[in-house]
Amino acid sequence: MTAEIIDGKAFSAKVRGEVATHVARLKEEHGITPGLAVVLVGEDPASQVYVRSKGKQTVEAGMNSFEHKLDADTSEADLLALIDQLNNDPAVHGILVQLPLPGHLDEDLVINSINPDKDVDGFHISNVGRLATGQNAMVPCTPLGCLMMLRDHHGSLSGMNAVVIGRSNIVGKPMAQLLLRDSCTVTIAHSRTKDIADVVRGADIVVAAVGRAEMVPGDWIKPGATVIDVGINRIDAPEKGTNEDGSVKTRLVGDCDFASCAEVAGAITPVPGGVGPMTIACLLANTLTACCRANGLEAPQGLTA
Ligand code: GUN
Repeated sequence: MTAEIIDGKAFSAKVRGEVATHVARLKEEHGITPGLAVVLVGEDPASQVYVRSKGKQTVEAGMNSFEHKLDADTSEADLLALIDQLNNDPAVHGILVQLPLPGHLDEDLVINSINPDKDVDGFHISNVGRLATGQNAMVPCTPLGCLMMLRDHHGSLSGMNAVVIGRSNIVGKPMAQLLLRDSCTVTIAHSRTKDIADVVRGADIVVAAVGRAEMVPGDWIKPGATVIDVGINRIDAPEKGTNEDGSVKTRLVGDCDFASCAEVAGAITPVPGGVGPMTIACLLANTLTACCRANGLEAPQGLTA
């Protein structure tokens, strides 16, 4: 069997298009423009790229983008004061503090100072609790993107066996909660799981989110299963030659060995071009959801969990 490739690039474009349509309607019918504030502390190059991309796509969807770039040595008090200002700004419906933060800042304290209704990352402890108890939560963007792709592919997920590999707060745990809410039988596998190959072999749905290049081989996959690969790992690619400075060229791979998994799976997301593009699309969807809820309006179905 050769797996169907789930095209995250095309699917994320569709989601962004739907968000833009709803944003245009919000403006026309209610005079409201959703606004997303992104806070970047320091100059981490990868974070700068993400933040630029988030700002660009926010504006393309017709929303307001507010960027706050702070020096790496910004004090916790100054950062908390900015978050307080954004919490109280009616033009700001979503707040995202780009992680990781410099070491002198307490990430939990900072995240939990965001108004949970504006926490478009879904990292606030209240949103974690709301998700676990089935209340209106803001849901972390990457798991939400995975869920949207799974629902789009399967329709109902009810009764399916799902194995999530990885137990991070950002992906593994919320992913498991979302699959449970959609009535899957959910197992979370991790570095201490015994006989992990057998555990994964029982899965109709595999979500790999460990951050280890190509750790899931095709012979762990049940024939016909759906494989969602959240990993984005850069590895050496000597076959591509060397850069001008003599260093070996690199390439991106997922947590699954794509070639062998695609021979067995029914469907699989590639890396790049799978889950990755869905994350920002879901950030825009969450900002729209937060804006609707802040104004007493129903959030659009299909763009929330
Ligand atoms: N850094 C890498 N990914 C993310 C994300 O999804 N949200 C935030 N806030 N920071 C990140």
